[in-house]
Amino acid sequence: MIRRSIVIGCGGYLPQHIVTNEELARDVDTSDEWIRKRTGICERRIAGDNEKTSDLAIKAANEAIKSAKISVDDIDLIVLATATPDETFPATATRVQDGLGMTTGAAFDVQAVCTGFIYALNIADNFVRVGQADNVLVIGAETFSRILDWEDRTTSVLFGDGAGAVILQGLDQSRKNHIRGILSHHLHADGRHHDYLFVDGGPSSTKTVGHLRMEGREVFRHAVNNMASVLEEALAANNMSPEDIDWLVPHQANKRIIDRTAQKLGLPLEKVVMTVDRHANTSAASVPLALCEAVNDGRIKDGDIVALEAMGGGFTWGASLIRW
Ligand code: ACO
Repeated sequence: MIRRSIVIGCGGYLPQHIVTNEELARDVDTSDEWIRKRTGICERRIAGDNEKTSDLAIKAANEAIKSAKISVDDIDLIVLATATPDETFPATATRVQDGLGMTTGAAFDVQAVCTGFIYALNIADNFVRVGQADNVLVIGAETFSRILDWEDRTTSVLFGDGAGAVILQGLDQSRKNHIRGILSHHLHADGRHHDYLFVDGGPSSTKTVGHLRMEGREVFRHAVNNMASVLEEALAANNMSPEDIDWLVPHQANKRIIDRTAQKLGLPLEKVVMTVDRHANTSAASVPLALCEAVNDGRIKDGDIVALEAMGGGFTWGASLIRW
C-alpha cells in the first residue's frame, strides 16, 4: 500500500467590490487598453476597509469544508500561505482556526509570496504522507491592496485580493493501480533576485508595512523561464510529457506570462485555466482560486492529470503534479 494526499474539497472567496481598469485610470496615468493588452487583466476585487486576510480565508475555508463533506473537527492542521498577514504575529492561520470554531489541531503560516500555495501544499502533503495528519486545510489568502503604492501605475494595476482553499485527505492505495492524488512537488528559491520584487518595509527593517516594488521586465523574463523549467522537471520526475497534462493551473500574474509558458511547453491554451482577466494577480490565492473554479465547474474530472505552478518574490517558484 502507498499513502497519498487526495484533494477532497475546494473553495474560493472574492471580495464583493469590483474595480475596473477604467476606474484605476481615473487616478493614475493608465488606460483600460494598456492594461488589457500588456496583462490580460480587465478587473480585480478589492477587500473592504474592515475585511482582513483571515476574513477572506475563513470564507474560502468554509466553502472547501462544505464541498469536502467533513466537519471542522476532522481537520488536523491548517497551513495558510500569505504575504499579507492580519498582524506580524500570531499566524493568520490561528485567526482562521478560531473563526472556523476549531480548538484542536495545529495551524501556521507559510511565506513564499506568489508561490506560497505550492509551498503550503507541499508541506501539508508531507504531513499526510508520513501519517502525521489525515485531513489538512490548505489556504492561499491575500489582501495585496494593502501593500500597493496606488500612485505607482507599474504595479497598482496588476494585483487583486482573494482567497482559495483545498482539503487534503490521506488515502492508502494499492500500488497496482494508477496512484491517485498528489504525485510530486518541486520547489525552488534564489534569493539573489530579491531586488526585482520586494516590499520596502517590515518590522525588522523599517518598522513600517511598506509597499510592493518591482522590476516588471526582469520578473517577466524569469517567470516564463522558471515556470516552464519547473514544469518540465515535474513531468520528467513522473515519466510524463506535456501531452499527459489535462489541465495546467498556473499562477495568474499576467496572461502573456501564461501564454508564453504554455507555448514553451507546446501546451494548447484550451488546457490552461485562466482567471487573471477577472481576478488579476492575487498572489498566493491565485492558484487555489483558479483550481477551485475549474473543479467546481466540472472541467477537472477524476483521473485528470493536473499541473499547478507558480513563481513569486524571492524569487521562489515551484510546481505540483496531481492525478485527480
Ligand atoms: N499604464 C500605462 N503605461 C504603463 C503602465 C500602466 N499601468 N505601466 C507601465 N507603463 C509604461 C512604462 O512606463 C513604459 O513607458 P516608457 O516606454 O515611456 O518608459 C511602458 O509602459 C512600457 O513599460 P514596460 O515595463 O517595458 O512594459 P512591459 O511590456 O514589460 O509590461 C508589466 C509591464 C505588465 C509589468 C510586465 O513587465 C509584467 O507583467 N511583468 C511581470 C510582473 C508580474 O507579473 N509581477 C507579479 C509578481 S511576480 C509573479 O507573480 C510572477
